[in-house]
Amino acid sequence: MPNADNSGSKPRRRGFQRTTAKPEPAARGDVVVAERPRSRTASGSVAVTLRVNGDEHRLTLDPRTTLLDALRDHLDLPGTKKGCDMGACGACTVHVDGRRVVSCLTLAASVDRQAITTIEGLAQNGELHPMQVAFLDHDGFQCGYCTPGQIMSAVALIREGRATSPEAIREFMNGNICRCGAYPNIVAAIKAAPGKE
Ligand code: FES
Ligand code: FES
Repeated sequence: MPNADNSGSKPRRRGFQRTTAKPEPAARGDVVVAERPRSRTASGSVAVTLRVNGDEHRLTLDPRTTLLDALRDHLDLPGTKKGCDMGACGACTVHVDGRRVVSCLTLAASVDRQAITTIEGLAQNGELHPMQVAFLDHDGFQCGYCTPGQIMSAVALIREGRATSPEAIREFMNGNICRCGAYPNIVAAIKAAPGKE
């Protein structure tokens, strides 16, 4: 992960919390690709049940619909960001059954009935997730566009037991690109977040 000067203007915390607090989310570690379209309708659409942040949603989708588009366009969960839309930036990271995945390369039909967590689902009972707090405390963002994906990836990274050193954090977060170059503060936030050991 490249380092970069992080001396830009201070982040707007209220905007950050609005983006990351309520709805919950993956990095490039694993990519889920549709394996079997669910029951097709006469129109060629498929019936899909998405379990997102504890809520169940029954949708009828074009079988080519990505999980990212299903979240943003069908479920009104815009916290998961579309960056490259080709698996290269990590902005769209969410969790599927606890694993981080890039939702732009994941067909919605392939995660039928699996547990999906987005950035909107991280906070619980009005309390930010400790990783969200760590990003705030360490100014781990500037514009904030990559931040939901960074946080979702970081949460999974700690769960994977891989956040063992700054070098390891850089290595296993390298699928999450930050065009603002907030990398030093992102690493500091992950390093300081509770739950690593
Ligand atoms: S938008 Fe999915 S990896 Fe960039
Ligand atoms: S904070 Fe702007 S792209 Fe990462």
